[in-house]
Amino acid sequence: MRVRVPASSANLGPGFDCFGLAWQLYNEMEFLPASELKISGCPEKFQNENNLAYRAYLTTLEAAGLPPEPVEIRFLSTYIPVCRGLGSSSALIAGGVLAANELHGLGLSPDKLLLIAAQAEGHPDNVAPALRGGLTVSSMENGRVLSASFPLSDKLHFAVLVPDFELSTELARSVLPAQLSRQDAIFNVSRAALLLKALETGDAALLPVALQDRIHEPYRTPLIPGYDRARELALNLGAAGLCISGAGSTLLCFASGEDFAPRMAAAVAEEFPSWRVLPVLPEREGAAVID
Ligand code: HSE
Repeated sequence: MRVRVPASSANLGPGFDCFGLAWQLYNEMEFLPASELKISGCPEKFQNENNLAYRAYLTTLEAAGLPPEPVEIRFLSTYIPVCRGLGSSSALIAGGVLAANELHGLGLSPDKLLLIAAQAEGHPDNVAPALRGGLTVSSMENGRVLSASFPLSDKLHFAVLVPDFELSTELARSVLPAQLSRQDAIFNVSRAALLLKALETGDAALLPVALQDRIHEPYRTPLIPGYDRARELALNLGAAGLCISGAGSTLLCFASGEDFAPRMAAAVAEEFPSWRVLPVLPEREGAAVID
């Protein structure tokens, strides 16, 4: 049985640990009954019992009251860049959860699958769009995940700027302050609400303010060498705004039109030749069993 899981960008500026958006950029995995664990198609260091897709698969069996079952996992395609803030670990977790439910006919509800995935990941902002697609705002409360889907205008275009270096979420979280002032909380709440409206209506004029953040970006941009120049290039080429995708290192550009990505790619090729620029389209459906 094959599953296809989309990449996602969490946070989207002010929506730290809550907002997420799925992309038409996927990993595909095949799960097969087996007599012992076998994992192929990914780097050797992930071909063991610590593999996130396998851990999530086992956790889902356990949640359904079943004992562990061996499985063979074949990674058929892995287009989601690893450790770059595009939800690669959430995609593995979402794939493992979905596959266990389907392969063993567990009949767990979509809400339960989301809860298992969010607990495995530690926060719901990537697993919600990975499983459900689209633009989501999620919150964990008393052992439940509340996740709502929000409309996304077709007028907006997006491109991701993927640096040539990884940024671990652990490191990117370690630099964040534990406390926030009331002023900063108000700053973020207002921007987050404006951002949802901008994404719904496609009103790019709201984005320069709506993408502002004071919870994480000011502390994380120093971890992304080249950030200031990349931002300048994107804005000079007409991007309406940009934010760090998830915990980074990728930057998500809110593009001005379909020609933004090729123009940005040309500029980036000059200054950051080993970075990649990918146009990305929102994925509306989320993780799916594809056969
Ligand atoms: N919201 C998370 C963060 C996403 O920014 O740390 C990364 O898993």
